[in-house]
Amino acid sequence: MLRSALLNVMVAAARKAGRTLKRDFGEVEHLQVSLKGPANFVTAADRKAEETLKAELEKARPGYGFLGEEGGLQAGSDPSHTWIVDPLDGTTNFLHGIPQFAISIALQRDDTIVAGVIYNPANEELFIAERGKGAFLNDQRIRVAGRQRLADAVICCGLPHLGRGDLAQFRKEFAVVQERVAGLRRFGAAALDLAWVAAGRFDAFWERNLSPWDMAAGILMIREAGGYVSDCEGGDQMLGRKSIICGNETMQREILALLKAANRE
Ligand code: IPD
Ligand code: CA
Ligand code: CA
Ligand code: CA
Repeated sequence: MLRSALLNVMVAAARKAGRTLKRDFGEVEHLQVSLKGPANFVTAADRKAEETLKAELEKARPGYGFLGEEGGLQAGSDPSHTWIVDPLDGTTNFLHGIPQFAISIALQRDDTIVAGVIYNPANEELFIAERGKGAFLNDQRIRVAGRQRLADAVICCGLPHLGRGDLAQFRKEFAVVQERVAGLRRFGAAALDLAWVAAGRFDAFWERNLSPWDMAAGILMIREAGGYVSDCEGGDQMLGRKSIICGNETMQREILALLKAANRE
């Protein structure tokens, strides 16, 4: 596949930040760790990766705005372009030596996500997508899974922990979904969960209380892989409502119906 100049910029930045993340992953016991809130860790690795990504992306596209998990929004001189970046998605996995974490970079043009990169430096899996041009894993085209029956499906979810989010609601939703599907998983890195749906590994994924940097690249990845995405109310305000359901057309619809049923109980 011939990669666009834009994707080349994004991939080069992700690989550069990925190299330092991988080094830090090997020496995680020496990392400075602080708490942003209950069970909300941030490490020197998160901050360093964000600095690298910001510097590389700014060098290639001066003037674009930058929204990063650690530094918040820094407006640029070009109001129509903003990078949306999670420098390390899955910090808790990272801290525990679990190689399920990623860098997520999306480019928003006006109100549309036009390109996305999700990169796991631990196994060098690189997911990329550009609007209208498909989604790829290590340069091979990916598609969402085709399964049509919940009974055959493996579903991934995120869950509230230590007082973050509505645990009672999650328990209801989990119970209803769990009864109907072949398997239910919680892997702990939302951007990768989305990339894995795009690659057909998970049949669907849902999570509440996510931030734009967790979802922006993944939403494009799933759509470009032929999948369907909604918020947990069935609308298209994923970033605004901070929630997501995705899968192929049937799976997205079925999980939405199950969550609605769970919340009526
Ligand atoms: C977290 C992960 C996790 C999700 C949390 C996110 P972080 O991101 O994506 O899977 O359940 O809601 O905050 O903090 O590791 O970048
Ligand atoms: Ca975090
Ligand atoms: Ca994240
Ligand atoms: Ca993060």
